[in-house]
Amino acid sequence: MLPNPVPPGPFPSGFLFGTATASYQIEGAAREGGRGPSIWDTYSHTQGKVYRGDTGDIACDHYHRLDSDLDLLSWLGCGTYRFSIAWPRVLPAGHGPVNQQGLDFYKRLLDGLHRRGIVPMVTLYHWDLPQPLQDTGGWQSRDTAGRFGDYAAAVAAALGDLVPLWVTLNEPWCSAFAGHLYGRHAPGLTDLTAALRAAHYLMLGHGYACQALRAGHGGGQVGIALNLTDVAPASADPGDAAAAARMDGHQNRWFLDPILRGEYPKDLLAWYAERADVSFAAGGDLPRVAQPLDILGINFYEGHTIAAGDDDPVHSAKRLPPAGPVTHSGLAIEPAGLTNVLRRAHDDYGPIPLYVTENGACFNDYADPEGGVDDFERVDYLSGYFGAAAEAIRHGVDLRGYYVWSLLDNFEWSYGYSRRFGLVYVDYRTQDRVPKRSAHWYRDLIATHSARSRGTERAT
Ligand code: GCO
Repeated sequence: MLPNPVPPGPFPSGFLFGTATASYQIEGAAREGGRGPSIWDTYSHTQGKVYRGDTGDIACDHYHRLDSDLDLLSWLGCGTYRFSIAWPRVLPAGHGPVNQQGLDFYKRLLDGLHRRGIVPMVTLYHWDLPQPLQDTGGWQSRDTAGRFGDYAAAVAAALGDLVPLWVTLNEPWCSAFAGHLYGRHAPGLTDLTAALRAAHYLMLGHGYACQALRAGHGGGQVGIALNLTDVAPASADPGDAAAAARMDGHQNRWFLDPILRGEYPKDLLAWYAERADVSFAAGGDLPRVAQPLDILGINFYEGHTIAAGDDDPVHSAKRLPPAGPVTHSGLAIEPAGLTNVLRRAHDDYGPIPLYVTENGACFNDYADPEGGVDDFERVDYLSGYFGAAAEAIRHGVDLRGYYVWSLLDNFEWSYGYSRRFGLVYVDYRTQDRVPKRSAHWYRDLIATHSARSRGTERAT
């Protein structure tokens, strides 16, 4: 057993320590409570799309274990919890009359958080688009952007008084490019024009949703969660530098610039115009996309070293394999990358209050004969990345909180249940929850911070 690393920090008073989850990944009850099908129900039930044919039909059965899972958050001492609302649980057809049972579930969830003194951060869209909307074009259709605004208005009307922190979209890059260009997320398409159109109408939907949330009850702060990547060129060679700039544009600036500056990055727009139909970009939508934001969420998992090449033929680029330690899903363990993306967001797109809305790692966790789960690698990982967040704060970044992905092991998209990211181990046969070593470490970190904030920390 390795000793736990020294708790990183310090963090400012009022800093929010939390965890994050998503509806399709934990809820289960896929056909209960009036929920309609989503594109991930369709995708996961399509032969060959998800590891072992795993689906989110049951997942962590969170729908039936709400109170005991919220008690886990209390035990951890979390000051905040980020979860997503399933659009098809609230509007099974994607639009039209609301499903009251769906709203009631999220009302119970929000009431449970408030009773426990935990600040809710609500993601409106974490990839589970109602299938009826996909049947009429999905995110490639302008109509879906408008429906997303209507959905936001319906949720705000019902629950807005209970939500202080809103995230409109989780990782529009994944919805657009993993789902429409690289074919490894729902709906599983592999077309550049489709991906660019989807990215555009996702961002337009974000704009409509910002306006709807602000017109609704509650006055919560509004933002978005972007998965930013720390991109570096493999060498000073101009070809490598150009390839890295393209991948930085593709991964980061394609969303940062429209959402925070009201313009597409010119270099990438020109690159794509030679390879796809980008006529959507001339339609005058960007002023609506670029709604003023109160907060910006950053999901951070990976840094890429990029060289010229054709592993990614659309961008004439290739990723070099990580040179150092990696997680069990092969991602580089490089905490400085988190400091870099936080400082870049602050320096280039700020000042805007930031949250790490996701960071975490996959390791091959298992329950030992005594029933414990000694995920010492995750303790080391999180200690390093929280230290990187503290480093960004020391450089003046206005970082308000940090959500560890994830509270529970859960459905990891096309990898099914083969990849565990949780602070809490889930035995999928019994649905038993077992706090891992990292959960105990996180609980101690939060308690240490709280004591420091109260000025009551015991001399160690
Ligand atoms: C993402 C999603 C999460 C993932 C997590 C681990 O960032 O891909 O927001 O749903 O499960 O990141 O890959």
